Order: sequence, then C-alpha cells, then structure tokens
Amino acid sequence: MTAAAVLPPESALKREFHFVPADHQAIARLVYDELGILLPEGKAQLVYGRVAPRVRACGLDSVGAYVRLIEQDEDERLRMFDAITTNHTAFFRESHHFDDFVERMWPRLSQRLQSGGRVRLWSAACSSGEEPYSWLMAALGPDRTAAQRLLRADLKLLATDVSPSVLATARAGIYPAATLRTVPPALRNAWLSGPSERQTVDPLLRDAIAFRPLNLLGAWPMRGRFDAICCRNVMIYFDEPTKARLQSRLADHLETGGMLYIGHSERLADDVAHRFESVGRTAYLKVAA
Ligand SMILES: C[S@@+](CC[C@H](N)C(=O)[O-])C[C@H]1O[C@@H](n2cnc3c(N)ncnc32)[C@H](O)[C@@H]1O
Repeated sequence: MTAAAVLPPESALKREFHFVPADHQAIARLVYDELGILLPEGKAQLVYGRVAPRVRACGLDSVGAYVRLIEQDEDERLRMFDAITTNHTAFFRESHHFDDFVERMWPRLSQRLQSGGRVRLWSAACSSGEEPYSWLMAALGPDRTAAQRLLRADLKLLATDVSPSVLATARAGIYPAATLRTVPPALRNAWLSGPSERQTVDPLLRDAIAFRPLNLLGAWPMRGRFDAICCRNVMIYFDEPTKARLQSRLADHLETGGMLYIGHSERLADDVAHRFESVGRTAYLKVAA
C-alpha cells in the first residue's frame, strides 16, 4: 500500500499544518536511523500529532519546512526525537517481573550487599521512572530501617532512556495520585510523601538510582555487568535485526545467573535464545556459555 493511500486527505482532517507522505517518510527515516523505531505509513497521523507542537513552537507553517529544519539543526532534531517516542509506563506494570526478582534474585543479592559486595541493576528504557522506582520498592519492601542498611551498601540501579523529558520527570520523582494508584499501599506509605494528590519519592530511594540518557542503539559507556536488566516494552518498536542485536548486547552486559526481563509482547530472537533459560513469563536467566 502506498503512503498516499494511507494518509487521509488534509481537508478531511483539518490539519493546522500542511503534511504530505514525503514529510512522514523523511521523519520516519531519521527516527529509524537514530533510534531504531519503526514508523510505518499507518503511523502518519501519530507522527503528525507529535511533531505539530514542534512545528508551531518553531514558528513554521508546514511539516515540510520543519523537515528541512531538522535535517540541518541537530538540537531541534533531538527535540523531535524526544517528542516522537511513546513513553507509556506505569508503577508496578507487569509486576510478575518484580515478584520473580524478589523471589529468585533478591535473597542472594541482598546477602551479597550485607557482606560488602556490589549489586548492579539496569532499567533500560525506563521512561518517566515508574519502572525503576517500582523495582527498587519491590526489592526493599516497606521496612525502611532494613532498607536503609542496604541502600548504604554498594547497590546501584542504572535507569536510562533516550528521551530527556521523561528522564527529567523520573529525576524529579513527583507523581500525581492517578499515577500512584498501582503502588501497593504499604510501599506507598514507606516510600512516598506529601499530599495524596501529588507525592514525592523518598530521596533515599531516588539517590540509589542513576538516571542517564542512553540510546540503546548507540555506544554504551557501562563497563561492568549487571545482575538483572529490565528492558521492557521498547523492543516492540524495533525491527527483528535491531531486536536481535540489542538482545545480544544485553546478554553481554549480564552476569551469568543474572536475569533479563522483557515486555509481555516481546520474545527472544532465535540467535540469542540459547544464551538464556526461560524461567517464567518473559523472564530469562542467563546461562553459562
Ligand atoms: C513504552 S516506554 C516503556 C517504559 C518501561 N520500560 C515500561 O515497560 O513501562 C518505551 C521507552 O523506550 C524509550 N526508547 C525508545 N527508543 C529508544 C532507544 N533507541 N534507546 C533508548 N530508549 C528508547 C522511549 O523514550 C520510552 O520512554
């Protein structure tokens, strides 16, 4: 099917800015090349909806003019990437992963922390922070005194995303009541404070998480290996070769015996599957080579 067949006529949509299939194709190409995200013709309206505020902010009168701008202006191109990503997430989303981690990994890892060892966790594509905060709250539980001892030990959770705006929300750690609805009450009492309509994550928890910008397709500066990685609901936007390459790199960055958790509609590529044992719902244990 051609782009022309999929894009509804402008008159039918009453768009503010002129937007033609070639504009969509140019944006889709830039996004794919930089982020690996596929934006097929059927996503044209989504693309328009996300770039239109940037076209307006730049004082331009068409998406075509905006395309010419982002081809030249790197800062604006980064703003477009920020605007185009889908950042949907939730506290305790797919919480069976956190249950698995707490049962399978945490007894050994918390023991290691108490005896002076280090524990490294990575939330890859963490969006606005709900995933890493949930993970740490689930592991530490509601007992703040016991948790403080572990937080003083060598425990670090790296949380990365390519989108600077969601990372800013994550770092701030302030969430409205509707977002916090899925946090179990005991954990909410222990780790969030402030008026119920808008609560702040305890700085103790926040400071154990390093929020950093990172493109999963780019270079990774991390040297050491992780004990567990959550890389959930991002690979759905990638094509098969990109998924396979990413999963292979994630495997390289995991300790043997470490866990990889992926999203509910994601699967391991055939080339990578042999490096893991499937031990639960989208939960994979890295095995020795
Ligand atoms: C749908 S959210 C998933 C958030 C969280 N992992 C979860 O499952 O709730 C996908 C996130 O992936 C990020 N993302 C997309 N492409 C990326 C890339 N190439 N590198 C790093 N992050 C990327 C987006 O910015 C977005 O925040």
